[in-house]
Amino acid sequence: MSTLKLASRLDVIKPSATIAVAQKARELSAAGKDVLSFSLGEPDFPTPESICEAAHAAIRAGATHYTTARGVQELREVIVETSAKRRGGVRHRPEEVVVTVGAKHALFNLALALYGPGDEVIIPAPYWVSYPEQVRLVGATAVIAETTEEQGFRLQPETLRAAITDRTRALILCTPSNPTGSAYDADSLKALLEVCAEHDFWIIVDEIYGELIYGGFENRSALELAPELKDRMVVVDGVSKTYAMTGWRIGWLLAPTQVANACDTLQSQSTSNPTAVAQYAALAALTGPQEPVVEMCAAFERRRDLIIGRINAIDGLHARMPEGAFYAFVDARALVGRHAAGKRIESDVDLAGYLLDEACCALVPGTAFGAPGYLRMSYATSEDQIETGMARIAAAVAKLS
Ligand SMILES: Cc1ncc(COP(=O)(O)O)c(C=O)c1O
Repeated sequence: MSTLKLASRLDVIKPSATIAVAQKARELSAAGKDVLSFSLGEPDFPTPESICEAAHAAIRAGATHYTTARGVQELREVIVETSAKRRGGVRHRPEEVVVTVGAKHALFNLALALYGPGDEVIIPAPYWVSYPEQVRLVGATAVIAETTEEQGFRLQPETLRAAITDRTRALILCTPSNPTGSAYDADSLKALLEVCAEHDFWIIVDEIYGELIYGGFENRSALELAPELKDRMVVVDGVSKTYAMTGWRIGWLLAPTQVANACDTLQSQSTSNPTAVAQYAALAALTGPQEPVVEMCAAFERRRDLIIGRINAIDGLHARMPEGAFYAFVDARALVGRHAAGKRIESDVDLAGYLLDEACCALVPGTAFGAPGYLRMSYATSEDQIETGMARIAAAVAKLS
């Protein structure tokens, strides 16, 4: 093997823990084990047929060439309309929209465009795995602001205030959240935005799960609650979760003109443009029938109720009822320190390993999200799998001493 070195910027980042767990589960499955995966962050539903049909039609109509770097005009116009509808009428211009290769790419563009060495970016924990890694990759510092379950995993104004310094360049909010499923209600979000208004930094709001909301929870966008902060706010969204389109890789950001232009320039020198046919599929998703989304949400809500009930029936596990997304965030701290066949469970990572071996269930350890002692369970899976998996987990937990 060559002794040539990799770039030193890679020293500060780790591979995605969620993808690693999914990979291990796949390997065990390939080896013939009946592994039930609760690890993946994607809807288990197929992309709705009407969207696939529209993509076929787009290919036949010639959507097989480069497009403008920031995405085709028709899609950006539709995104503007959809966003205004979903965000209390606050309207962007099509030039303020950049279509990206998934929402993750939108966030990566923002990291490159907005932060650098010496800058601090505030990230509430538990956080989505990629936020701190992207911040570190561009040489900035991720400042982790803790939240607790008692606070509904919502960042408190005083915690935010304490984290702000004169180096703060941005705050990244995710609502509803991966990994907790927790969403900000209007009052708690407003209180945070009031603190933001006292300072000068970018407010990045990741609303990729914004349409997956349950139990009549009234989800409000930061943009709608504080339109006066629009020139400092960037909204990240996409079709991956709402329309079961993770593999199509289409997301976007809505941003002030100078940020949108910077991301456009970055794309022109990196991806050139998001895949043409996928852009037309996203266009069809936003303009076509929305019934599949309603049906998917109803299924997620049933699964949420089922899995939270099953988790809370197990002695030693606890999970709060999430408002959105498709994750249960399980407090397993009571099980850390117990023994499995004489061996001490030292951490959530050990516990996830034990549940994979003993119950053949793949869960992601909370440490990956900055929340040691917790486990994340995705319920983007069938009710049958939830019933079977939870019975296995209950039996495995009962064996701990
Ligand atoms: C909070 C959050 N933001 C962004 C993304 C990325 O979405 P996409 O698949 O569109 O890149 C994910 C995917 O898991 C996510 O959970």
